[in-house]
Amino acid sequence: MEEGRPLCYMDAVSECGWWEAGQLGKTDMREHWTLDSIDWSRFDRSKLDPALVRLVKAASLVEYNATDYVEYLRKVFANEPEMMKSLSRWGTEEVQHGAALGRWAEMADPTFRFDEAFARFRKAYRPAHFINADGSVRGSRVGELIARCVVECGTSSAYVALRDASDEPVLKQVAGLIAADEFAHYRLFYDLMGVQPEQQPGFWKRLWIAATRVSETEDDELAMAYYCANVPADREKDIPYDRNACNQAYQSAMFRLYKPLHIERAVAMTGKAIGVHPESNVLKFIGRALWQFVRFRVWRMGPPARTMAPA
Ligand SMILES: [Fe+2]
Ligand SMILES: [Fe+2]
Repeated sequence: MEEGRPLCYMDAVSECGWWEAGQLGKTDMREHWTLDSIDWSRFDRSKLDPALVRLVKAASLVEYNATDYVEYLRKVFANEPEMMKSLSRWGTEEVQHGAALGRWAEMADPTFRFDEAFARFRKAYRPAHFINADGSVRGSRVGELIARCVVECGTSSAYVALRDASDEPVLKQVAGLIAADEFAHYRLFYDLMGVQPEQQPGFWKRLWIAATRVSETEDDELAMAYYCANVPADREKDIPYDRNACNQAYQSAMFRLYKPLHIERAVAMTGKAIGVHPESNVLKFIGRALWQFVRFRVWRMGPPARTMAPA
């Protein structure tokens, strides 16, 4: 059982169709976990996996950087007070994910300085649309919410995979708590999509938005976070940033955590966000095909790099 969160979340996800689980995604800030909900005393250094430590260090920076995304979405949904409340709650939870992961990463790697790595990441990664946008870069508010659903599909699956793969008890707890939040975020954005007054884009447009957002996972954000988290400031000159190398290092460590269930669930959730029944045969086929693709990538990339230093 995941501490600090009603049992229904992960049980619902694991045991029944998540889309049928009435309580899935119903967040309540009064019950939301805090860093004090985590039993840090159970930390077990003997159970650490160095590849997971490098992943978590990178994830902590991306999560903690959510405030820029909140500001961007506030501009996109500027005149909707209810949306502002939801966005603020969502942003607070994302930042807390970064804080929890960062604290764990500092325990796992005593040389890691979360604040210092985050400052370098903030300086290096500022997408233009976060700063300059006066509307959604997805073309509409519904499009923006579809893109958010896609991201939450990816993060929820990733944290479940991380929880399942980790033997370290504190990381297992943290990843489980975050995974439950990410499912809740998906549900939040999915529900918000349904109450938008604007006309829903057609199916092909929705598919295009989802596919475009998935393809953006190869942009600078994760690669730069992996670099700033795993290359200390005093090694930057020796190990310059290489986006492809960092992306490969990140993906090689992340993809091998996935099991078929994680991939199939992410595909079903993404499909539902664009209006396809999550149990449809086409999504089952895509889920199986994607699993084969992930296996192939894991095989092609080989074991995760031990260091970011050039070979
Ligand atoms: Fe998160
Ligand atoms: Fe999230």
